[in-house]
Amino acid sequence: MSNKSVFRVRIGRKHAETAEIFSFELVPMDAESLPPFSAGSHIDVHVNGFVRQYSLCNHPEEQHRYQIAVLRDPKSRGGSIAMHDLLNVGDVVEISEPKNHFALANNGNKSILIAGGIGVTPILCMAERLANIGASFEFHYCARSSGHAAFRDRIAHSSFAHQAHFHFDDAGPEERLDIGAILADGVAETDLYVCGPGGFIDFVVAAAAEHGVPSERIHFERFGAIVVENDNDQPFVIKIASSGQSFSVPPEKSITTVLSENGIEVPLSCEQGVCGTCITRVLGGMPDHRDQYFSDEEKALNDQFTPCCSRSKSAELILDL
Ligand code: FES
Repeated sequence: MSNKSVFRVRIGRKHAETAEIFSFELVPMDAESLPPFSAGSHIDVHVNGFVRQYSLCNHPEEQHRYQIAVLRDPKSRGGSIAMHDLLNVGDVVEISEPKNHFALANNGNKSILIAGGIGVTPILCMAERLANIGASFEFHYCARSSGHAAFRDRIAHSSFAHQAHFHFDDAGPEERLDIGAILADGVAETDLYVCGPGGFIDFVVAAAAEHGVPSERIHFERFGAIVVENDNDQPFVIKIASSGQSFSVPPEKSITTVLSENGIEVPLSCEQGVCGTCITRVLGGMPDHRDQYFSDEEKALNDQFTPCCSRSKSAELILDL
């Protein structure tokens, strides 16, 4: 496994979209264009020792810039605050090439795009793409209030303004997101895409399933992993296949922490089981998958896992390291 290549870009623009959200335009240092990307892609941004994933929200045909938007999260571990407070126009940052774990299905179906808060970023990029190819779609954007909704003007002046619907928590109940009403025309040949806070995604996914949307046509992307209860975590042993070394992993430490303490560095990015950067092959034992990266089918194979957050169901886990 290898990290995607990392390269440097310059901050071309920093703009306050709301009181809590800055958008950043990242422009090439020397080359005239940036690697192409598809709607739903994200990049890793390296800032002040943190590596964070941000979805690209500009038009996916553009190659002269990447645009991201960052919500200042006081509960964050420091990434969003570093982005807000430390990065300014002209600064240089390292980013990864775009990666896409949230792609449009491109199956000719109608698309229903649903964004909650800062989850608007990949959804906006999808709306740009679908509008560009003349696809059938509608776009629902939920936020606490109009003042909390980024890109309102851009959406209002876009070619898809008539397909965009805002749902603000401080408005009347008739403006709230009503999945039943949205799916009232039927779910046949419809794909649903949702991005936002974990609870919002859970709500939309459950409501869509209840209204008959098959799971393979419900697409979502989480920004952070679900925190798995760990009160009952047990110690276990990891064995390094190449060297035969064994290390004990106590309940309070992650596998990658134990590996690092013993001089074995696994590439890391999100450290929450979201990005897939740390994927490691498993040669023996039964991993306890706690990531949001692999599908249930992939997890059932038990031949690879994300050691940044996952643990072991067996007393020993043999890693292909
Ligand atoms: S570092 Fe992102 S999934 Fe492990």
